[in-house]
Amino acid sequence: MLWGVPARGRKMQEKKMDRPMGNGNAGITATTAVDPPTGADAGFAGAELSRRHFVLGAGSALVLGSTVGLGACGGGSDVDRQPFGYGVASGDPLADRVIIWTRANRLTEAVQLRWEVALDASFSNMVTSGTVTADPAHDSTVKVDVTGLQPATSYFYRFKNGSVLSETGRTRTLPAGSVEQVKLGVFSCAAYPIGQFHVYNHASNRSDLDAALMLGDYIYESGLSDAEQLVARALGREVDPQGELHTLTDYRLLYQRYHTDADLRGLRRNVPLIGVWDDHEIVNDIWRDGAGGHDPATEGSFAARRAAAVQAYHEWMPTRTGADPLRIYRSFDFGNLLSLHMLDTRVIGRDAPTNRDPYLAGLADDPSRQLLGTEQEAWLAARLQGSGATWQVLGQQVVFGGMRIPLSVYDDFSEDAINAFLAALDTPDASRTAAQRALVAQPRIGYELTNWDGFPAARERVLAMAHATDKNLVVLSGDSHNAWAHDLRDTAGHRIGVEFATPSVTSTGLEIKHPDVGRQFLADSFVRMVPDLTYADTARRGYVAVTFTPTSVTGEFVFVSSVFVNSYSATVGPALQAQAGPAGRELTRLQPSA
Ligand SMILES: [Fe+2]
Repeated sequence: MLWGVPARGRKMQEKKMDRPMGNGNAGITATTAVDPPTGADAGFAGAELSRRHFVLGAGSALVLGSTVGLGACGGGSDVDRQPFGYGVASGDPLADRVIIWTRANRLTEAVQLRWEVALDASFSNMVTSGTVTADPAHDSTVKVDVTGLQPATSYFYRFKNGSVLSETGRTRTLPAGSVEQVKLGVFSCAAYPIGQFHVYNHASNRSDLDAALMLGDYIYESGLSDAEQLVARALGREVDPQGELHTLTDYRLLYQRYHTDADLRGLRRNVPLIGVWDDHEIVNDIWRDGAGGHDPATEGSFAARRAAAVQAYHEWMPTRTGADPLRIYRSFDFGNLLSLHMLDTRVIGRDAPTNRDPYLAGLADDPSRQLLGTEQEAWLAARLQGSGATWQVLGQQVVFGGMRIPLSVYDDFSEDAINAFLAALDTPDASRTAAQRALVAQPRIGYELTNWDGFPAARERVLAMAHATDKNLVVLSGDSHNAWAHDLRDTAGHRIGVEFATPSVTSTGLEIKHPDVGRQFLADSFVRMVPDLTYADTARRGYVAVTFTPTSVTGEFVFVSSVFVNSYSATVGPALQAQAGPAGRELTRLQPSA
């Protein structure tokens, strides 16, 4: 995605504009300064400070030095030398089944592995077992759909190659019937080279998540800018291949590299995943028939590249792959409490992107414009109609709620422009100057047109589905790298539900995109400029844990102190809550922002 306002006159669809750290070297300076870091960076050892010192925006520092070892890339790592070094994972849990996953390293030919599932970690109370073939043709990864399980039950699982054992994973089936509580962790945008996966570490150390929703940008295919290379080297998180991915081998190598990370493996080992891709698992700004990040004239077949990326995704993710690997939209029922509908807003049905001028000319309002595609949209309507669960939850990629800002701010995202608009807004109509009246009356435009703001008719149709069946809608979103919470209303003003948009695991947010705008001012301004946006954090990395009960939904944001140093602390909160029922679909803050 391209998350951010383009500079005036810059082409929106320019290739490779979106990077996990933003474009170019914005906000990043390399210096030989030896100033001691403060605040979040005070954990650096003094010896490291004499080395080249990289400043990433305000208040975050990296040190390039020998004390941070350069990690070996996937194929040459310690992880790769161990028979099951990439660990184990589980995913796509249902009430009676779950996928379990592993990879058998360094195979030269297919081998049979044994898998075991038990009720206890010592495997004395075995439930089921079998064999599965690990084949280099599938990157030596295996997936087993373990069936015949009991609902709401924790299981332990492992694999064996002869006498060699994998580590033991823990998973849990979905509940059935009357359910009192479900808690989901929501994650997106994990760029391995530019930050430590502390977010995954924090989540994997808690025992209360029923599932981890991976909403995409689980990897980044786009290669590294010079600045990102420097950060990766400083962190010992360089990748191979360093450039943009195109072939099946490229994509597989990057999955290997990402899974050398112990924190990522820890989350996969401890919590069942439910994942969908965003664009960067395949190529930046992908849509149904192409991608902003793919030029067929110089990069070959789009379909071949997409097929390679999709194959690698399913090889490495514990998904229940169907007959059509491109179709990843699917539902998960947590008894009578919630139905989770995982969507694909990127690949299978998205129409061509739009940008500023066509948007202002009304192109985005075309009622035939699709984000889900007709087939997926009909499927979702049927699922919402057919589910009697209290909460209807959409797990999907891009921000759903309106983020429409004044055109003057879109064109000049500066504190001066924002202050001018807000001053006009705060002035009583009778006292406004002509210029202020013009500011208040000017058109608005979605801050990021690759999200649902670029597809308003499609969004309205989803809201109408929920309204027609009087369902409590909760939308969970990723992609933006920042934390947001929305009240969701249709154009008639009906309260339909709420949205929690998760911050990124490592990818930089608006603090890098708009380095000249104060961080708190930026977040506060968004909330003031955008109707129904109730919360924003535009500078911190983290995740959101969402708790559902029969009467309420609560989104609790968790932020880590830094992804640029090896240790971290976590800040839990704020939490925002809404109630079930038409009168309760409005967020209130349970605790102040930390
Ligand atoms: Fe991202």
